[in-house]
Amino acid sequence: MFNEEMRSEQPLRWAMVGGGRGSQIGYAHRSGATRDGHFQLMAGAFDIDADRCRDFGTNLGLSADRCYADYLTMFTEEAKRDDGIQAVSIATPNATHYPIAMAALESGLHVVCEKPVTFTVVEAEDLKRIAQKHNRIFGVMYGYAGFQMIHQAREMIQRGDIGEVRVINMQFAHGFHAQEVEKNDPGAKWRMNPAVSGPTYVLGDIGTHAFYMAQLMTNLDVESLCCTRQSFVKSRAPLEDNAHVMMQFSNGAVGTLWASGVNAGSMHQQKIRIVGEKASLEWWDERPNQLSLEIQGEPARVLERGMSYLHKDSSAVDSDRIGGGHAEGFFESWSNIYSRFGVVMKAANRGDQATIDATWYPDIDAGIEGVRLLERCVDSADNGAKWVKYHD
Ligand code: NAI
Repeated sequence: MFNEEMRSEQPLRWAMVGGGRGSQIGYAHRSGATRDGHFQLMAGAFDIDADRCRDFGTNLGLSADRCYADYLTMFTEEAKRDDGIQAVSIATPNATHYPIAMAALESGLHVVCEKPVTFTVVEAEDLKRIAQKHNRIFGVMYGYAGFQMIHQAREMIQRGDIGEVRVINMQFAHGFHAQEVEKNDPGAKWRMNPAVSGPTYVLGDIGTHAFYMAQLMTNLDVESLCCTRQSFVKSRAPLEDNAHVMMQFSNGAVGTLWASGVNAGSMHQQKIRIVGEKASLEWWDERPNQLSLEIQGEPARVLERGMSYLHKDSSAVDSDRIGGGHAEGFFESWSNIYSRFGVVMKAANRGDQATIDATWYPDIDAGIEGVRLLERCVDSADNGAKWVKYHD
């Protein structure tokens, strides 16, 4: 089992930028990173407000002198210490990812960065180049990709269990922003501001998750796409609160992605349906322990996490923490990803490329593809929903 034993090596000394008190996703990072003993929180620039950062960090058990007013001071001061940080996670609003990640890499740190990693593909490729130059790991927090049944689906598709893939349906369409909630919600407000959110809202905020998981499962490359996007709450323009994307894949398959914050009444509706020539697979993040398998002409089946019929050599099995029947969820998915970040970062520290190559994790290439999706969708949608090439 991938997670069963704490690694004999020391935990990586780890810090966070962002993810302070009241943030949406800070706790998920701390929970995921520390669960299996790969990371130990030593420092933080958790908040845009220095006093709040210190108060929050000391409440978490950090010494006050390692709760920093800003990330640059943290990287500089930590580099002077014998026990300085080795890795950092960036959980700040989107506009800040690029400068913070660049400064972290230049300071010799491994990086875990939130999505979308940057505003442009050029910037994301820049981060890849600098990470390679410094021999640092760059992980991207596609937090749903650690669910075991995603990896069962991936293994089944790669083995040809459903035949050639024909149709890929991706959606992440919640209803939480059906009204203009950003008036009273700072976490929603920055998402509707292009200067902070970037060129998209729902496509980048949630569409990138479904897109990455479909890529992970099918390993298919997009050839071209056509996007239409709307701002149903008018004040959100030019950013979209709803978008539909049609895609053509290199093997002849076609797909759609629906990203929405105005799907009234819906909690998440993050679903991926992969239709092959013999059978279809469907996964839903509100029932993550199950994978639906529908073989043409046979009764539909539901595959359950933790069962002996799952493919043995996939992350579906080696990420298992407790047997079938017990529900695993979001935090386990994050821990599964963070454990892999820990494994590859430690491998990089000891120059063990073989372990890095053998370990799946959402890397900077996954981050680049997410940003490329957004660039191409904007190009298409803002030019009359024309079909555009996915690659240059
Ligand atoms: P939020 O607005 O709830 O929290 C942002 C936090 O960052 C706050 O504590 C704020 O004080 C701090 N901050 C802002 N600028 C900072 C700076 N320059 N230095 C240090 N701290 C700073 O934002 P939320 O919702 O937690 O999102 C953060 C990032 O995580 C975004 O990029 C978002 O797209 C991503 N996200 C990813 C999710 C996932 O499933 N992987 C889920 C939710 C958000």
